Amino acid sequence: MLVALTRPVPTSIAECELTHLKREPIYWARATEQHRQYEAALVSLGCRVEHLPVQPALPDSVFVEDTAVVVDECAVIARPGAKSRRGETATVAKTLGAYRTLSKIVAPGTLDGGDVLQIGRRIYVGLSSRTNTDGARQLAAFLQPFGYTVQTTTVRECLHLKSAVSTLPDGRLLLNPRWIDGAAFAVPYLEVDAMEPHAANVLCVSKTVVCPATAVRTRKRLQSEGYEVVSVDASELAKAEAGLTCCSIVFWADIG
Ligand code: GLY
Repeated sequence: MLVALTRPVPTSIAECELTHLKREPIYWARATEQHRQYEAALVSLGCRVEHLPVQPALPDSVFVEDTAVVVDECAVIARPGAKSRRGETATVAKTLGAYRTLSKIVAPGTLDGGDVLQIGRRIYVGLSSRTNTDGARQLAAFLQPFGYTVQTTTVRECLHLKSAVSTLPDGRLLLNPRWIDGAAFAVPYLEVDAMEPHAANVLCVSKTVVCPATAVRTRKRLQSEGYEVVSVDASELAKAEAGLTCCSIVFWADIG
């Protein structure tokens, strides 16, 4: 079945890392309610949501995607580029160890899971303010024995590779052409509506695309292409420079 790891929103969320956004108030109660609705959407799409322990002193700890890369054969524990986030990985490793053999990115490598885009057996790593070439090299060394090819790409004007591009259920991509060059991927793609730059981060669960509620025009574009779309309001966590994929790690697990 599909497992979705999530972690509660910490009360310190307003002190999160910000790279491209200006700081504005983030209301914990509203963020928590939106996070609850996000988890409910995952459950309605067939995921078993497994909660990691809350980490009150780690403001970005709700963004679990950045802490690991999980493929069918193994998992790689990340080494987040922001020092303030490095304490997030231990509990993720403990939980993922029950499902996968683990490897770990070590210094001087840095890698955020949000910079890793999987398209079948091709893995793209965005070189960003968080992920460096050594992190990408280590990831490649862990995944190549399983038949994955790993290549780097550059990210511009946004935090992570997956801020700019996401996979869709049929293998096409959804991307924001201002932040990433679609030709880099050799896969057909759709563009977000130009008014909705952050709509490029969508979460696919089986055949369904989970889309931010603010991305009304992009949602229509996806529906007109035949995709099944559900919307989730994640506007409060968006102020923390996060998209929908950031709040979970979704993977297949054999559970008896
Ligand atoms: N606030 C999300 C991040 O910077 O990692």
